[in-house]
Amino acid sequence: MSNVVLQADAVEKSYFLGGKELAVLQRVSLELQVGEFVALQGASGSGKSTLLQLLGGLDRPTAGAIRFEGEPLRVQTPAQAAEFRGSHVGFVFQAYHLLPDLDALENVQLPAQVLRRPQAESEQRARELLDSVGLSDRMDHRPSELSGGEQQRVAIARALMNKPEIVLADEPTGNLDTGTESEIIDLLKRMHAERQLTLLVATHDETVARAAQRVVHLKDGRVCE
Ligand SMILES: Nc1ncnc2c1ncn2[C@@H]1O[C@H](COP(=O)(O)OP(=O)(O)OP(=O)(O)O)[C@@H](O)[C@H]1O
Ligand SMILES: [Mg+2]
Repeated sequence: MSNVVLQADAVEKSYFLGGKELAVLQRVSLELQVGEFVALQGASGSGKSTLLQLLGGLDRPTAGAIRFEGEPLRVQTPAQAAEFRGSHVGFVFQAYHLLPDLDALENVQLPAQVLRRPQAESEQRARELLDSVGLSDRMDHRPSELSGGEQQRVAIARALMNKPEIVLADEPTGNLDTGTESEIIDLLKRMHAERQLTLLVATHDETVARAAQRVVHLKDGRVCE
């Protein structure tokens, strides 16, 4: 049996602007094994965010396929895409993307609500997750009442809410100072080890790359390991 959880198979992505084609990804192939922690590096504009969006079903490739557990992703409609993401993928973004009017506990519970999971159960899991990212005493704080590092911890807890098979993180330390950055890297490493997460992190940060088990480089729209 294959241990590949998520795979890009000769994926191409072009954007069409003003009648001109911009080929961002060219026959990109990448396999993520269950439980792997992989860093994705490449110059600004090399297509890291684009690739994460395709892998997470936020966008569709121009050619080639994304496979999840061997099956091509079926994300033809927005509802199918939302169902795939909600059930199988956790996202962490550079700018946290928390909802400003919800407190930390409510933000973490949101993915479970989208899937209409029972409220009591999801609240209990959200509390456990916030506890495990070190925020048991910040659960009732809104994002504006949290530091950047704390907001990213909430975002990581939220990404884990629905027990996703894969976590995709796009420059998760990009907005943080050096000390906070290493706390977030340590947290990702601990979550990876404790929860057997499959983790793909796009990053400019050498420290993140060193923490990963494998580094994949994107250059001129192609992958080189
Ligand atoms: N919606 C879009 N329409 C047109 N071009 C786009 C679109 N999104 C991204 N691009 C272009 O695709 C290329 C890759 O962008 P992408 O955001 O994936 O790069 P990146 O590697 O994540 O860069 P960074 O390190 O700066 O985050 C860039 O040249 C960008 O201008
Ligand atoms: Mg990017």
